[in-house]
Amino acid sequence: MNRNACSHGGIYSVDHRLVRVDCSSSVNPLGAPKAAIEVIKKNAGSLAPVYPDPECRDLKASLSRYLGVESSQLAVGNGAVEIIYWFAQTFAAKRVVIAVPTFCEYELASYKAGADVTFVSLKDGFELDADLLIEKAKGADAVFLCNPNNPTGMLSNAAVRKVVENVDSSTKILLDECFAELTDDPAANTMIDRIDEFDNLLILRSLTKSFGMAGLRIGYSVSSPQLASRLAEKRVPWNVNGLAQAAAVAALSDAGHVARARAVIRRERQFLYDRISKLKSFVPLKSDANYFLVRLRDGDSTKLRDLLLKKSGVLVRDCSTFTGMGLQHIRVAVRTRRENLLLLKALEMVDHGR
Ligand SMILES: Cc1ncc(COP(=O)(O)O)c(C=O)c1O
Repeated sequence: MNRNACSHGGIYSVDHRLVRVDCSSSVNPLGAPKAAIEVIKKNAGSLAPVYPDPECRDLKASLSRYLGVESSQLAVGNGAVEIIYWFAQTFAAKRVVIAVPTFCEYELASYKAGADVTFVSLKDGFELDADLLIEKAKGADAVFLCNPNNPTGMLSNAAVRKVVENVDSSTKILLDECFAELTDDPAANTMIDRIDEFDNLLILRSLTKSFGMAGLRIGYSVSSPQLASRLAEKRVPWNVNGLAQAAAVAALSDAGHVARARAVIRRERQFLYDRISKLKSFVPLKSDANYFLVRLRDGDSTKLRDLLLKKSGVLVRDCSTFTGMGLQHIRVAVRTRRENLLLLKALEMVDHGR
């Protein structure tokens, strides 16, 4: 990757006026919970003129109940991405290890912190190679892991646990679980229940994906209280605005919203997968998440993204900007049936050469 470039999907990655369906950002297909939107509408007048709580105390209390951890173990950021930067600035002194392809902000944040990056390629089929990663992590300041991984969508629970259990305790680990709540069995796919065992582990979460609240920018981490305090030293005052804090508290009281999204995702992922499998130009890859990779039998992912957008207003994620990936893959988000049918129609048009 170009050291200064880090591409993302989302409607502003292209001419946003062309986008009818955004399948490039992988967020909750049901959108934000009603309760969160109502709180914003009702309280905008009283919250907008006052400074928000810089410590996010109510939000931390809600997160503490939601996750079953102590408030002192939490740090709250302006999106999970802010915490990635705090982590890199605090711990990525000389060298970090990143398994690729993965979310590009880990490498960008590490470079900005002045660290060298050792990339460890995922094995064939995009499996995490725990032994190789443990080997490369010897003497490193930090390791970044993502489970389920973006863009592959695969869970690597056993390999992730092996890495966390075997990397030297002087090496800090950021385990990004931002998509875990949208997998079929979130309780089985998290290490939050084991956080007290590891002083060097930081688990990253976000309301962006799970609660469909990307625009409000609320991310958080779970770690030891010591690690949480180290990160908080990097925080600017009032980093999370008052409307976002209130909306997050309301959202967390509606865990059913995420459960309903999981049911939609499970059903729609299979539907999309089966239908895309029937097309001659595309090969969908298995995923545990609310998005999956599609391999192109020929052609170029950047051109395909542009063509789909121009012809159908459907935006997919061109994966060529992920370190370690070429032009052979796009990533599609699993959305509602109506939107998925528009995606399928767009892919079918390309498949039939129309
Ligand atoms: C794996 C992963 N972690 C973190 C983020 C950033 O999340 P947030 O919107 O909370 O900053 C993203 C965004 O795409 C992501 O894919």
